[in-house]
Amino acid sequence: MRILVTAGPTREFFDPVRFISNRSSGKMGFAIAACAAARGHAVTLVAGPVTLSTPAGVARVDVVSAREMLSATQAHLPDCDALVMCAAVADWRPKAVSAVKLKKSAPHSAVLELEPNPDILTTLRPLKGARLFVGFAAETGDPLAEARRKLEAKNLDLMVANDVSLPDAGFEVDTNRVVLVTHDGPAQPLPLLTKREVASHIIQWIEQARPKKR
Ligand code: CTP
Repeated sequence: MRILVTAGPTREFFDPVRFISNRSSGKMGFAIAACAAARGHAVTLVAGPVTLSTPAGVARVDVVSAREMLSATQAHLPDCDALVMCAAVADWRPKAVSAVKLKKSAPHSAVLELEPNPDILTTLRPLKGARLFVGFAAETGDPLAEARRKLEAKNLDLMVANDVSLPDAGFEVDTNRVVLVTHDGPAQPLPLLTKREVASHIIQWIEQARPKKR
């Protein structure tokens, strides 16, 4: 199969040296790309700014902002059978971007005005066709309820829910504790696993789901 994976955070600049972003390290998405390539799939990885090296056999496209991630993902979508949106896309960006570094002495308001970024999965939804769409729900509240809501709202085939407030799951660490949520069947909680092991579950889910879609 041809699998398109997004990973890492996005950065939204408001002057040449400052941006807003989030804690995503890219480890989960890179593990998915590595696992998919190792299992013989053709993998394109759209990566936000991270410090990870490209997994063997993976074609990597580097992006910075959410809008760049949308363009790159949209451009590669026609050539894929499954999209795994693992990236932690910034939901907002600063409304004004200064061409020069903002000075603290200047009479600027300290309030940063934000405007919404496009939602990549929602934007690509009309182009889904027979492709499998997999999303991630990083939650600090009730991961399962939110995962189910987003599974429906974004027309996904699989939602991977995780509680990022746990010390051994979610951002930055090498392990993850996730629940796989689909339209039919009960939610499937996985034990504490390495991100590579979680990746393997997700890729195997995609492999078994694929024939039913055609
Ligand atoms: N996502 C996306 N585009 C965005 C934000 C998120 O495609 N601008 C994708 C993520 O990659 C993930 C899924 O949507 O696969 C869920 O992301 P999440 O941040 O959990 O949810 P949001 O849609 O941002 O909703 P909320 O802010 O209500 O949590």
